[in-house]
Amino acid sequence: MKPVIIIGAGGHARVLLDTLSQVSCTILGFTSLCLQRNITSDAFFELPLLGTDEQVFSYPPETIYLVNGLGMVPGSGFLRRRDIYHKFKHKGYTFANIVHPSAVLAANVTLLEGAQIMAGAVIQTGTVIGENCIINTRTAVDHDVMIGSHVHLAPGTTVCGNVTIGDGTFVGAGSTIVQGIEIGANCIIRAGSVIKHKFTNSP
Ligand SMILES: CC(C)(COP(=O)(O)OP(=O)(O)OC[C@H]1O[C@@H](n2cnc3c(N)ncnc32)[C@H](O)[C@@H]1OP(=O)(O)O)[C@@H](O)C(=O)NCCC(=O)NCCS
Repeated sequence: MKPVIIIGAGGHARVLLDTLSQVSCTILGFTSLCLQRNITSDAFFELPLLGTDEQVFSYPPETIYLVNGLGMVPGSGFLRRRDIYHKFKHKGYTFANIVHPSAVLAANVTLLEGAQIMAGAVIQTGTVIGENCIINTRTAVDHDVMIGSHVHLAPGTTVCGNVTIGDGTFVGAGSTIVQGIEIGANCIIRAGSVIKHKFTNSP
């Protein structure tokens, strides 16, 4: 695998760093929007802060992979993870797929570019995970689920079989989506929800 740069220096970036440290991978360093921020070297295992995100451009796209370390929770900055992905994709960069060694993936699961499968996740047969998604800690996605791009299934989510989830949707921690349900694009499902009917953000 090519060396990677982690974009971002917050909580999600540190969780990804821990995962990367458990797989064979060279990490060149990380970027941060705010260089003044006090980022302790302990938190990043003494990896170098390369600079702001723009510093990525000093590495030719074909020589590295990027890891999107930005989280995605409702509130300010919600769309930043998606924007960063598009920004670097348009310049020819590739985002690595990250799969924690403790995750369980059926043989014919499809992961599109930049998918991040965190510790303890289980993904069953026939499921497709779209670009730049986060399938977070201990989330279970059952069979034949179609997940669009830029979706975040927060920790402890349960998605039953044959569910469809549109691009850009956030599913809050501990939610359950029952089988066959269609969730629209750009929806916000609050933590602890049980979704039993078609769900969209439209009025
Ligand atoms: C949906 C969400 C974004 C709403 O946030 P918000 O707009 O800031 O909402 P507020 O915190 O102002 O709460 C508004 C009201 O809804 C209630 N509420 C908020 N979230 C709720 C939830 N998940 N379940 C039940 N009630 C909830 C609040 O208690 C409050 O009620 P009140 O006015 O009677 O006190 C937030 O609750 C949520 O679920 N965030 C996701 C958390 C998560 O999964 N994080 C994972 C990080 S990896």
